[in-house]
Amino acid sequence: MISRRMFIQSVFGAGIGVLFTGTYSRFLEPRWVELNYITININELPHRFEGMTIAQLSDIHHCQYVPREFVRRCVRKVNALSPDIVVLTGDYVYDPSYRASIFLLPVADELAELKAKEGVFAVLGNHDNKDRTSGALSERGIRVLINEHIALYRKNEYVFIAGVDDLWRGKMDLARTLKGTDDKPKILLVHNPDAIEMIKATDVDFVMAGHTHGGQVSLPLYGPPVIYSKFGARYAAGLFREGRTMMYVNKGIGISGFPVRFCARPEITLFTLRNKRIEEVVGQI
Ligand SMILES: [Fe+2]
Repeated sequence: MISRRMFIQSVFGAGIGVLFTGTYSRFLEPRWVELNYITININELPHRFEGMTIAQLSDIHHCQYVPREFVRRCVRKVNALSPDIVVLTGDYVYDPSYRASIFLLPVADELAELKAKEGVFAVLGNHDNKDRTSGALSERGIRVLINEHIALYRKNEYVFIAGVDDLWRGKMDLARTLKGTDDKPKILLVHNPDAIEMIKATDVDFVMAGHTHGGQVSLPLYGPPVIYSKFGARYAAGLFREGRTMMYVNKGIGISGFPVRFCARPEITLFTLRNKRIEEVVGQI
């Protein structure tokens, strides 16, 4: 039999718990950025690209809940990593309509401050307007890749950096994106990790994706209850291998829908590329 006093204490304790969880997920975790360092081993990576670093920012969703000052702080964190290239994997604002375009130019201005020795590359997400967003980023020196690729040279060696249009909002065309590439390593930017279903049939080596936000809310012992993916929580966040292709799904730094994050901290990722064969030899020593 629970006494009246115990009942009141239980209700009070539960109230404190709800208040703490609400405050944490609304105000603390959405600004608590984690830096993840990931090594990617790539077959036949040209010698001059050994140790190349790529910083990834994703799903910024600049809006009233993801203020410009926070975006600026994240850009500074990326610059402090001194990456060789920076990649942006879509969803720069929350609302892509013209009415909400007041957020697009400020976020583009902040991203213009990104410093990378060999370029900043971007793809669009399902919250982006193709013309307005690609225009705003391109005008600020960011190379937007929509079903196209570039060859990134270091002296006479090169790798391919490619990017596809968004799987949901755009017209993703993998064949067109990879047309004209050869057997050199291919690094592909996508917004939606569901695209791996098609990408795994190609010879792409490494994919960087966003879109999921890691669920934004992930429950202990259960995982994220809601993921906007036909594969459920399978590609919610982290590193995956599908055939010869590695894919990393970044949790992004912004929020959409409810302005909360819980057990799905915002993320900036720094990748270091290594030649797979060298890594295997070193591993055997
Ligand atoms: Fe997003």
